[in-house]
Amino acid sequence: MNERNMTQRVVLFCLFLTLAIGYIIAADNAAVEQRIDAIISQMTLQEKIGQLNQQTGQGTSEGMIKQIKSGTIGSILNETDPEVVNRLQHYAVENSRLHIPLIFARDVIHGFRTIFPIPLGQAATWNPALVEEGARIAAREAASTGIRWTFSPMVDISRDARWGRCAESSGEDPYLTEQMALAMIHGYQGDDLSQPGTMAACAKHFACYGASESGKDYNTTWIPEVLMRDVYLPPFEAAAKAGCATFMCSFNDINGVPSSGNSHLNRDILRGEWGYNGVLVSDWGSIQQMIPHGFCSDLKDAAMKGATAGVDIDMESYAYVQHLEQLVSDGKVAETVIDEMVRNVLRLKFRLGLFDNPYVDMKHANEFYAPESLEAAAKTAVESAILLKNNGLLPLRGAKKIALVGPMSNDKHNQAGTWSFDLEKERCVTPYEALTAVLGKENVIFEEGLTYSRDKNAEGIDKAVAIARDADVIVMIGGEEAVLSGEAHCRVNTTLPGAQTEMLRALKATGKPVVLIVMSGRPLAIVDEVEMADATIFMFHPGTMGGEAVARMLLGKAVPSGKLPMSMPRMSGQTPLYYSHKNTGRPASDMVLIDDIALEAGQTSTGCTSYYLDAGDGAAFPFGYGLSYSTFEYGPVTLSADNMGTDGEIIASCTITNTGKYEAAEVAQLYVRDLVGSLIRPVKELKGFEKLTLRPGESKTVKFSVKACDLGFHTLDLKKIVEPGEFHLWIAGDSASGTPITFNITE
Ligand code: NOJ
Repeated sequence: MNERNMTQRVVLFCLFLTLAIGYIIAADNAAVEQRIDAIISQMTLQEKIGQLNQQTGQGTSEGMIKQIKSGTIGSILNETDPEVVNRLQHYAVENSRLHIPLIFARDVIHGFRTIFPIPLGQAATWNPALVEEGARIAAREAASTGIRWTFSPMVDISRDARWGRCAESSGEDPYLTEQMALAMIHGYQGDDLSQPGTMAACAKHFACYGASESGKDYNTTWIPEVLMRDVYLPPFEAAAKAGCATFMCSFNDINGVPSSGNSHLNRDILRGEWGYNGVLVSDWGSIQQMIPHGFCSDLKDAAMKGATAGVDIDMESYAYVQHLEQLVSDGKVAETVIDEMVRNVLRLKFRLGLFDNPYVDMKHANEFYAPESLEAAAKTAVESAILLKNNGLLPLRGAKKIALVGPMSNDKHNQAGTWSFDLEKERCVTPYEALTAVLGKENVIFEEGLTYSRDKNAEGIDKAVAIARDADVIVMIGGEEAVLSGEAHCRVNTTLPGAQTEMLRALKATGKPVVLIVMSGRPLAIVDEVEMADATIFMFHPGTMGGEAVARMLLGKAVPSGKLPMSMPRMSGQTPLYYSHKNTGRPASDMVLIDDIALEAGQTSTGCTSYYLDAGDGAAFPFGYGLSYSTFEYGPVTLSADNMGTDGEIIASCTITNTGKYEAAEVAQLYVRDLVGSLIRPVKELKGFEKLTLRPGESKTVKFSVKACDLGFHTLDLKKIVEPGEFHLWIAGDSASGTPITFNITE
């Protein structure tokens, strides 16, 4: 057989295989839908509404058992004892009329027992494969207790560091967020959600929650639909299309309509445009909260608006169980609407395989902390660490005695970060423990000084300074306690809390070299602190193995390779702050800063451009920024063509060389700018990235496919278009570097 025939046969075989698999899936789906039809046809209205009711666990209380037996509850949150899970499931499967299994759900946000870095830290790895692995481990651990549904990933775009929930996000950029979301969804769900050790993922919070006004949680949002579609919705759309099993509403209202009552979002866009057939769950109490929002008059009205807007499950509002039956008999909600909601829930239970395998396998219950899981957590913590500055002090070489100080240097609870409900803090390895394990206690003189991040105790500072005098190098590990970020934990002043800056200043005054490590739930305004330190590593709360990661990096056994997923401000007031802003008609230039303004200077003396008198313009450290112990040189960018049609593709290439002394990883980032648009386009947009590891002296060429269809945007009448014109393209190590190269999109 000649080569051509062979290729034809392979192509035909692949086509046959694809068709056959497609046929089997379609037949399977049809069979499931038929089984769902059969169940729905036997259900009373009360049983249907039961499937739409989600409540938090109460163990095996009499009330809960009664509800399960009567089929008036469909899913339970926060039950993590596999024996309790199995007992409750037994009542559902054996003692309820239709034997419909329950789903057990939990916020498994960045690991279950083995805690990984908070999601913002995971995004800082720019390593989707590693993030996927973390999600897989979380799913395996959680599923071993019976949890088969996690409320993760959060894919809200976060451009305001004041918002405590930026900790749970992948940061400011839609493309990076989308890549992280896809990695997590696949990690949780695997290829087949019915397999053991998987969990249904949940893309939340639908939608625009990250834009909560003034960075205050739950706050209102007002977002033109073009912006919504270009920035806030793409990660959700990608999640829906990747088969993310569930979505969750957000707490905020969008343009005056709360998400839980928002038919445009939930029905027109999610179900209609994206063809989504998964489950949409409300957020905790968010159906009831449409009353204080001023959108619903009472709980009955809220139940009606939630159901009408397509919210399948009512989490903890009790609106559906209390009012849907009456609403149906009043003709206010059609029973066919209820049937569709129930269908979505039953489909999820089938997808999870719960009708066939409802119970936790007790032989494999409570399996946590496998050595490879702990190693994955350590590796993720290392890769999430962002080296902001290094004057050559790191890695520490030849330092005989380290003075280890600061509130986060031995704090098992706080290094885990927000949303660590299942943390067993004794399992956390702190920097103190990890450093002393390698160097011995005699070489690590330890005195926290300040014992928690908000501590202002001057005596503590004196103690830290006293031990620092006996050391060769000072390592201060500070930051924010876990409770200062996360849901409903917003801050206006996003600086280092307590007297940490004073402590750093006093330590610096000893004349010893100082390494500053910050563990935080958000980007912080720490320009002065970075200036004082000889080297600074920034970590978003790094989880169980955070201390091990710190020790490896300090001692040169690992090289930091994290890159910022959110811009770091110079000052707290610089919010929202994001690299892909639009230009004003007077972009910042010739800035005269506050201390340089002459007395009684004239109104226009500072120039009339767009900047702050005290903070200048732009981030202290831009999106995508992060140093390494090594250095990298980016060669010129080349394009496979200088222009392409509106459905075309070009390949952009760049050779990157490790010019330093350490084997290390670098994240090559592809940015694009559409120079002139019928609607103004952002000054830069991330369109691709690749993390590569290079030995000293080694070069690798990255190749990015740039498709015209990915460079489009929405017009005011909400059509997605690709506009012909001139574009700039960069391949660089962060969003503020690189030299642009030009290409055109032609008609
Ligand atoms: C409220 C939070 O907004 C949401 O993210 C979480 O999943 C639910 N509570 C359930 O705990």
